[in-house]
Amino acid sequence: MTGDAAAAGRDVDWDALRAAAREAMSRAYAPYSGFRVGVAALADDGRTVVGCNVENASYGVGLCAECGLVSQLAATGGGRLTHFVCVDGQGAPLVPCGRCRQLLYEFGGPDLVLETPDGFRTLDAMLPQAFGPQHLG
Ligand code: THU
Repeated sequence: MTGDAAAAGRDVDWDALRAAAREAMSRAYAPYSGFRVGVAALADDGRTVVGCNVENASYGVGLCAECGLVSQLAATGGGRLTHFVCVDGQGAPLVPCGRCRQLLYEFGGPDLVLETPDGFRTLDAMLPQAFGPQHLG
């Protein structure tokens, strides 16, 4: 693990970040799975970006909540993600799926701090030996 996730997250208002994720979750479009997801993250300039899952009648093209979040990050000025939370339909912390860990790695790198059901973790701990931009020439 790179760094100490608990220490790295100490100065962050996780209650506010979780509230933003829950609000986004309330707007999820998940009529097929019935499984609503909301995410929120802080960018390195202090702004908050959010996302919710958006499913599709063609099941395989449904969008995870993290897709919306990274799109909002880019569309509102880019930057790096520093702190992240994902919640389920009850508003409880949820682990991001494997594909979305890769999305988060692109914009947060190994030191991104995540709130999980088991406490705070760095992305490095949740996606060890990640493939990333550093591997491309
Ligand atoms: N889902 C997300 O939005 N993010 C995740 O990290 C886990 C899964 C969504 C995809 C699908 O709409 C629903 O949860 C059930 O898998």
